[in-house]
Amino acid sequence: MAQKFLYAWLPYLSILVFFVGSYFQHKSHVFRLTPERRRELREHLDWEVVPLKYGFLVILFGHIIALMIPSAVLSFNGDPLRMVLLEVTGLVFGLGFLTALLSIFFRRWFNPRVRTVANSMDMIMEILLISQVMLGCWTAAVYRWGSSWGASNVSPYLWSILKFQPHLDSVQVLPHVMQLHIITGFIILIVFPFTRFWPQLLLIVFGKSSGPSR
Ligand code: HEM
Repeated sequence: MAQKFLYAWLPYLSILVFFVGSYFQHKSHVFRLTPERRRELREHLDWEVVPLKYGFLVILFGHIIALMIPSAVLSFNGDPLRMVLLEVTGLVFGLGFLTALLSIFFRRWFNPRVRTVANSMDMIMEILLISQVMLGCWTAAVYRWGSSWGASNVSPYLWSILKFQPHLDSVQVLPHVMQLHIITGFIILIVFPFTRFWPQLLLIVFGKSSGPSR
């Protein structure tokens, strides 16, 4: 029963809460970044802007491509050198993203002035995201080659969710670290609309990428 909830019901719940929650957040202006908060955020971020921005983009598009068009990844990985290059690239950007998240988190933790910039939901989201990226990097480093077995095992599961015919077989056999990674991904979608990550993400990813504007 737990497996059915985690892999058949939770994905739909998380997608629903993510889109409905993001729509109402956008409508409500509650989390809109004021010029003062934008300045505080820029002051608060330093070298992290670059690994945050490019780490986020590489991981996001890497996941979308690997999970949505698996045949392309499997044929790309047909050449072992290309496969290793893909895996190393994913891991390097994953570790860069993790280092930047940890740096921001500990600066917030140890600097009371910076702590005012985040509310408790933001901190919960940051802890979830750091755990998620750690689980992802751990999976990529230990359970090789994730881009291949992810394409052959995880992608069919995600397509079965999108087709409203959830097939759990291929995910239930995955290593526990990877199962935790998938479940944490869905929990992050549920929490996301209740944080100020949307405006901060848009500022970091689409704002100026060359460090703070002192
Ligand atoms: C907030 C959501 C997520 C974040 C931040 C995230 C992040 C990461 C990171 C940093 C890695 C290691 C770097 C890499 O190899 O790409 C990774 C690997 C992986 N993730 Fe995620 N992930 C998320 C959600 C998911 C979900 C929902 C799935 C599947 C349903 C998934 C499947 C995978 C797989 C299969 C790997 C291993 C890739 C490999 O070894 O090359 N991820 N993830």
